[in-house]
Amino acid sequence: MQDNKIEITELREKLDFHSYQYYVLDNPQISDAEYDRLFRRLSELEEQHPELITADSPTQRVGGAPLEGFNTVRHTVPMLSLDNAFNDEEMVAFDERLKRLLETEEEFEYIVEPKMDGIAVELVYVNGQLVQGSTRGDGLQGEEITANLKTIASIPLKLRDNELAIPSRLEVRGEVFYPTAAFRQLNKDREAAGEPTFVNPRNSAAGTLRQLDPRITAKRLLDIFIHGIGVIEGVELKTQSDAYFAFQQWGLKVNPFTKVCAGMQNAIAVYYNLLEKRESLPYEIDGTVFKLNSIEHQRAAGIRSRSPRWAIAYKFPAQQETTIVEEIIAQVGRTGAVTPVALLKPVFVGGVEVRRATLHNQDEIDRKDVRIGDTVVVQRAGDVIPEIVKVVESKRQKSAKKYTLPRNCPACSNPLFRPEGEAVLRCDNPDCPAQLRESIIHFASKGAMDIDGLGEKLVAVLLEKKLISSIADLYFLQKENVAELDRMGDKSAENLMSAIEKSRTAPLERFLFALGIRHVGEHVARVVTQHFKSLEKIQNAAVEELITIHEVGPQVAASLTHFFSQEKNKSLVQKLLEGGLAPVYSESRIESGPQFDGMTFVFTGALEKFTRKDAEKFVTDRGGRASSSVSKKTSYLVAGPGAGSKLQKAKELGVAVLTEDAFLAMLT
Ligand code: IVH
Repeated sequence: MQDNKIEITELREKLDFHSYQYYVLDNPQISDAEYDRLFRRLSELEEQHPELITADSPTQRVGGAPLEGFNTVRHTVPMLSLDNAFNDEEMVAFDERLKRLLETEEEFEYIVEPKMDGIAVELVYVNGQLVQGSTRGDGLQGEEITANLKTIASIPLKLRDNELAIPSRLEVRGEVFYPTAAFRQLNKDREAAGEPTFVNPRNSAAGTLRQLDPRITAKRLLDIFIHGIGVIEGVELKTQSDAYFAFQQWGLKVNPFTKVCAGMQNAIAVYYNLLEKRESLPYEIDGTVFKLNSIEHQRAAGIRSRSPRWAIAYKFPAQQETTIVEEIIAQVGRTGAVTPVALLKPVFVGGVEVRRATLHNQDEIDRKDVRIGDTVVVQRAGDVIPEIVKVVESKRQKSAKKYTLPRNCPACSNPLFRPEGEAVLRCDNPDCPAQLRESIIHFASKGAMDIDGLGEKLVAVLLEKKLISSIADLYFLQKENVAELDRMGDKSAENLMSAIEKSRTAPLERFLFALGIRHVGEHVARVVTQHFKSLEKIQNAAVEELITIHEVGPQVAASLTHFFSQEKNKSLVQKLLEGGLAPVYSESRIESGPQFDGMTFVFTGALEKFTRKDAEKFVTDRGGRASSSVSKKTSYLVAGPGAGSKLQKAKELGVAVLTEDAFLAMLT
């Protein structure tokens, strides 16, 4: 019995340590399998000795039976909200107001941190044990959701005992959030199961926390950052940054992007830095929060009825706006896919003007019931095409018109068809002018031949004026003809000619990609080029040889051989060569040092020791592949500070995770 007790204690300590390393520090020390083994052993022992189970045992996270409802709890200290600011002037005014209030001319120290778009909660620790968790509610009282909060792995059930004394009572506030990737997965799963999807990560976090069945909460991958104190007894803190340091000592998770700044101007610089990082973060933030760092200053500044005078939210421009669908059109892509696109009354979303949003396919239009004339919420995230989130039904006019995709190609009138198992309509006319236009745009685009200045508009004009009727014609263009086009002139024509000239000797792999062969993306083009080393050999490659190349499967092999067997494409290549195109195979492949053939790397988080681009090039130059999403095929995830959902996914899939230093060590 005594032995069991000792083993149980040891197991709990080990499990607490490793789950802290894993969930709070993002720095696992043992494999998942090893963790599971320890966990199973503890469960076994506790099953044999139920009298030894304690509330803070790691086995007690996954909640028991569903609740009937939630109890209401009163917060000892009200949970306040924040004032908002939307520009630098308002922030400077905030700073000046505080200087007047505290009668000082000295610069304040501010702590700046991301404003999480999540759900505010409070955690109460008594002598280091988590005894209660609740929602913010109306600020004075919220709902008791302890069982649900316990399922969040980055919330410690007991505070870590370090050099720093543990307060006899600690009430902290934080933001529970749904990492973006986990949110997308959740919605995918829900859609597959025919369940309604969540509008955004914040709503799904809210819905998950208010689950009456904690077993459901446990299945969802919520996370938390702690950002404030309600009550602390037995420990003295001088600054907000001291508090964050203490939180980390106790095992509470603090946002790694939090920065202490001298003076408002430096603090504003951090805002812009985070605004730039916004889209690479693994969770959604809607701004930054500025707080006076000195707790004495915070006390002196005091609070208004609902918000403190010593803190303010400096919000980012919204990523969602409402606007009107003026028209819906069918757009034909390079491969013949016909997609509905909503033309919008122009609106600024997150600082960028949006005029169109994709509607994906007919099913999507029907599901969201988007009609011409509707007021809609549009959303822009990262560099993905803006999307329509939903229709504002209260604003629907009687005149709103339903839309159905045409039966015939809007560009060539060819009847469209819907391949089995696909949601997308296709035009299979090889001479479809829209496909031609799109394939020229693709040919000239950045990752392909990179012909500067040859964008959508100019391609359309060149086609319209019949200066070109195929990709190859680009290499027969005459400067004089181009200069005569509207809004061109001599200088622009000359620039275009020299950009085309430069592309004559583009790398072979980029030319192969530029041809727009189905299933031949940048990576496949590179791999195939590295194998054959010449255009002629690629043109004549047989399926048998192609499939011997690592990462080339039957689908790619068939698509490549099919493309080069067609008369039309043969003469296209022939004409390109006649036009002076001479793609160059250069041995970009580096054969010395480490080799990464067949390996896929994903880089995530805010990398500090190298740029993402350099790291990816290092990998691809040595035969490896760089990808932006984690899957079972990922060999290594290299994670910098702030890594979130990708890291989590890698762990779930058992993908090896490297720190930046470990990656650097691999390269020597
Ligand atoms: S401090 C007294 N810090 O924003 C100060 N709040 O709009 C109150 N929030 O209710 C909060 N990220 O739920 C603080 N880094 C952060 C935050 C944050 C998100 C939420 C919080 C608050 C709301 C106010």
